[in-house]
Amino acid sequence: MKTNRTFTMIKPDAVAAGHIGAILDMITKSGFKIVALKYTALSAEKAGQFYEVHKERPFYQGLVDFMSSGPIVAAILEKDDAIAEFRKLIGATNPADAAEGTIRKKYAKSIGENAVHGSDSDENAEIEGNFFFSAFERF
Ligand code: TYD
Repeated sequence: MKTNRTFTMIKPDAVAAGHIGAILDMITKSGFKIVALKYTALSAEKAGQFYEVHKERPFYQGLVDFMSSGPIVAAILEKDDAIAEFRKLIGATNPADAAEGTIRKKYAKSIGENAVHGSDSDENAEIEGNFFFSAFERF
């Protein structure tokens, strides 16, 4: 079932660089409605859980260290075809490959410190949204 929702995080690099407002502006100007929003931080344990699918990959420990290095912004977004539309807006994982006008092209520093997360499927968007938000925190 298509839920028309996706989950995103503004990652520690973009938060530390002061880009929360600019990134949320790009998101809402692209037609996404914010249905949940939270300024928070991941412990190393929580970051490890969130990225558990990557635990055998060589970049896993670096990713966990980075994602627990400072505050993040978590959000659930709504738009028709949200998963694909949001992946288009954020651009390729590696900012060197990201298209002009994408969030990662503008704000990501490297493949590891790449400014934003975007869910890759409806199923993962649901799981990731539930990881951060209770029923009382989403609209
Ligand atoms: P992935 O799910 O492949 O990318 P995306 O975030 O675009 O869905 O990887 C998850 C995160 O892992 C990615 O955003 C940054 C990090 N990562 C690295 O640090 N090095 C790598 O080589 C890859 C592929 C990912």
